[in-house]
Amino acid sequence: MEVIIKEDYEEISKLAAQIIAGIVRINPRAVLGLATGGTPVGCYRELVRMHGEEDLDFSQIVTFNLDEYVGIAKDHEQSYYRFMWDNLFSHVNVVPANVHIPDGNAEDLHVACDEYEIEMDEHGGVDIQLLGIGSNGHLAFNEPGSSLGSRTRIKTLTERTRQDNSRFFENIDEVPKYCVTMGIGTIMESGKLLLLANGANKAEAIAAAVEGPITASVPASAIQLHPDVTVIMDRAASSKLTREYHSQPHFLEGEEQ
Ligand code: F6R
Repeated sequence: MEVIIKEDYEEISKLAAQIIAGIVRINPRAVLGLATGGTPVGCYRELVRMHGEEDLDFSQIVTFNLDEYVGIAKDHEQSYYRFMWDNLFSHVNVVPANVHIPDGNAEDLHVACDEYEIEMDEHGGVDIQLLGIGSNGHLAFNEPGSSLGSRTRIKTLTERTRQDNSRFFENIDEVPKYCVTMGIGTIMESGKLLLLANGANKAEAIAAAVEGPITASVPASAIQLHPDVTVIMDRAASSKLTREYHSQPHFLEGEEQ
């Protein structure tokens, strides 16, 4: 696992975008696993800039999102569908048919979850999965106690997650209670994992995920079993880590920051 500590959110976002862009340039048909929430917004902004200024091409890229709320309309301000179009897809040349976001309004959610897994398989699986982490250690919406072998399915959000996400809604009662999420087992099959964290409220969770025991009580700790993981965080999120880490990934060592 490569753990990189940056000074601030801007630096995390730039490095994350650089890593994703590197994969897109090597493989223009790459399958990107994408996340929502506050954390990846800066990374998406940087990818949009690279598309506009550096010809980063998304025309053959395929995307699969981690999760979606159940029961809010696609065009609801806080749906993850809307988030992805507002923050990334509308600003790059991705082909809409290549975009996959779990359908939180499917008539049969169980069937839709199984089909999502099949579609991922048909595209050869995810090449790089972008991830955030919940303050309770959740990965995607796999809340503490989720099976480390789980697949895409319906989950109930914990009160802590609903509280954390209520900042995006009018009040906590508006935050959906259920979601559809890739499982930990699904995420672990990605070729590479890229986990981002910023802010002091993530310090405990990130320390447990990176240095703690592997346990379903901290679903993000499953990343320790993956052979190709990069974790990028800011100083505040790193404050509870105890080992020595770097400020540059190996592939950039010796280069100017
Ligand atoms: C979102 C997701 C969640 C978030 C996590 C952190 O697709 O899967 O696990 O990454 O809740 O959210 P923020 O970034 O808003 O702190």
